[in-house]
Amino acid sequence: MPFPQTRMRRLRASAALRGLVRETELRPGQLLLPLFVSEAVASRDPIAAMPGVDRLSIAQAIDEARQAHALGIAGVLLFGVPANKDPEGTGAWDDDGVVQVALHALREAVPDLLLITDVCLCEYTEHGHCGVLDSEGQVDNDASLELLARTAVSHARAGADIVAPSDMMDGRVGAIRTELDGEGFAQTPIMAYSAKFASAFYGPFREAAGSTPSFGDRRTYQLDPANARQALRETLLDVQEGADMVMVKPALAYGDLIRATREATELPVVAYNVSGEYAMVKAAAAAGYLDERTTVLEILTSLRRAGADIIISYHAKDAAQWLAKT
Ligand code: PBG
Repeated sequence: MPFPQTRMRRLRASAALRGLVRETELRPGQLLLPLFVSEAVASRDPIAAMPGVDRLSIAQAIDEARQAHALGIAGVLLFGVPANKDPEGTGAWDDDGVVQVALHALREAVPDLLLITDVCLCEYTEHGHCGVLDSEGQVDNDASLELLARTAVSHARAGADIVAPSDMMDGRVGAIRTELDGEGFAQTPIMAYSAKFASAFYGPFREAAGSTPSFGDRRTYQLDPANARQALRETLLDVQEGADMVMVKPALAYGDLIRATREATELPVVAYNVSGEYAMVKAAAAAGYLDERTTVLEILTSLRRAGADIIISYHAKDAAQWLAKT
């Protein structure tokens, strides 16, 4: 029965009716907050393009983690900013490295908050690539696997609840699973950055983590933004290799992939609302062009609607606060 018998506006007439028929729920327990822990800063070191996000000392990271926990956020995703870098990125698997030390401190301070670690070499290598280089200066896939697996084990040993490889080397999920199992961490889940695209939206993150490649770019390992079928192949391979959760990253321009991933697997799907997406909203809001609160809640809800179970977002604390009041 079309109009006039059918009137779509009937179910939108009041807040109570709209609430009753709302299809998608967003709650703080579905959100993860990224934190940059820096060996080089004494307290907070602001990131220019990301107002409200700072590089943190361990004491400040504890402070942020406590706040996140109090707001009902499920966990934090830790990125390390080491004082020193070298060609191999040895700081990544150093048991006394910045992430490992932070894990011990956070585990004690906020025992119930999930501690997730980004497993990658780019913050620790002088050249800023996500793996080690071969004699020709190319990123050496197979040689990088052992180092990534070593890094994941070092994180698990320091108390990580979940490890999240973001390097995009082929075979890393399997290599990490084998190494974790062999070292007594069979219970540590892997959140795989599976459909991770070579994206301009990581710009502010690279400033924050000091991980811009010193030559070339990441297009030989991260996905071409034009490729959806290839992205699904990546994801399904990660599932076969033993991933426990799969990720689509970035989020906003990739809603089709979030939906396709949701339909292609039964695993929890994670969407990463990345640094450039955050920077755009903050800049537009600061200029008075957008209302920050409604924009952020609309974005996060749309990612849930697209099919994401879990959302990583720099807006997580603000969103959790706003959700508590609605
Ligand atoms: C490390 C890594 C990156 C991000 C997460 N892990 C940067 C990159 O791949 O260049 C991006 C996160 C963001 O932009 O918020 N490989």
